Amino acid sequence: MTINSVPALDLLRQYRELLPQVSRAMSQVVESGAFILGPDVGAFEKEVSEWMGSQFALGVSNGTDALFIALRALGVGQNDQVLSSPFTFFATVSATVNSGATPVFSEIDPNTFNLDANRVEEVLKQDKQRRIKAIIPVHLYGQACDMEAFQSLSKRYGVFLIEDACQSIGAVIKNKKTGNWSEFGCFSLYPTKNLGALGDAGIITTNDQALAEKVLAIRNHGSKIRYVHEIIGSNFRMDTVQAAALRVFLPHLNHWIESRQKIACFYDEQLGDLEQIVVPKKAPYSTHTYHQYTVRVLNGKRDAFKNHLSAQKIGHMVYYPIPCHLQKALSSLGYKKGDFPIAEQACEEVVSLPIFPGMSNEEQEYVVRAIKAFS
Ligand SMILES: Cc1ncc(COP(=O)(O)O)c(C=O)c1O
Repeated sequence: MTINSVPALDLLRQYRELLPQVSRAMSQVVESGAFILGPDVGAFEKEVSEWMGSQFALGVSNGTDALFIALRALGVGQNDQVLSSPFTFFATVSATVNSGATPVFSEIDPNTFNLDANRVEEVLKQDKQRRIKAIIPVHLYGQACDMEAFQSLSKRYGVFLIEDACQSIGAVIKNKKTGNWSEFGCFSLYPTKNLGALGDAGIITTNDQALAEKVLAIRNHGSKIRYVHEIIGSNFRMDTVQAAALRVFLPHLNHWIESRQKIACFYDEQLGDLEQIVVPKKAPYSTHTYHQYTVRVLNGKRDAFKNHLSAQKIGHMVYYPIPCHLQKALSSLGYKKGDFPIAEQACEEVVSLPIFPGMSNEEQEYVVRAIKAFS
């Protein structure tokens, strides 16, 4: 078959064969009448905690809420500051603002697109009043942050660590998966994620029993016993139908991640020497799960590159066109253009290419041919 277009993502190809199993699992939920935190949520939590190597993996409503719950469980809120990356999905920051805390940013590493631990230390040194209570390293695109460096900062400066692992499920640093390097790992199971539900869902991991109990309370109105409310929580519960579907998908996740890594390897080989395109650099300390395969387009040619891909009907996305510190919603913080030039440049240069399990060799070759023809 001659290829003349490639989608950015095709979820059906990833799980079409599993749909009969998914339908059966969902029907069973409907017949059971247990729709919220039902038995499938408990079973999914157990399976995912084993897969993740975490003592606790708790199902929640979505990744944004997982971040918010983590901050609440650690007691971070009003008068506190939370340091994170200016180059992330805005949810990292809105969770901070919604907790009552104030976001603080630090510059990213141009190679990994993630927070640069050395620069974070400079910010911590300047924080004479010790208002920064937590750091949220974001494992962007599936590339883990240098968590050993962040753990050392956490110890030396007495700040909590919360991993925004929304894009990095399965990424490994020294035999330990992301989500296990801090007080909490926060995962999104948004449908397009490497492990995606059929709607909104999330996971929060921890290896601390007391913190796990706080999460359990916060996700359900601060209540462990019905109608007895010990703390203020809210409704951050996971739907049972989502857990039922996720239980079908989880056994395939390793294979799905490997498929992404193979495609990334092909792109690296084929595109690594081009002059105008910079392929993503994999950090030496971890694996990369390629939630996104994101290149930089140099010399101000991103728009031309995007037009070129569109003309060839190749799906692509820009994650993210505006850095968080320049978003209008945060204008009261007083940041301005030029504050984080590396993050700002990334916003102007990045383009994510098609990558998904089930993408054919012909499609990969079509993308590569089109990009090589770009000049
Ligand atoms: C880096 C990052 N943080 C947070 C989130 C929020 O997750 P959710 O969409 O499940 O609320 C996402 C997902 O879109 C994300 O990519």
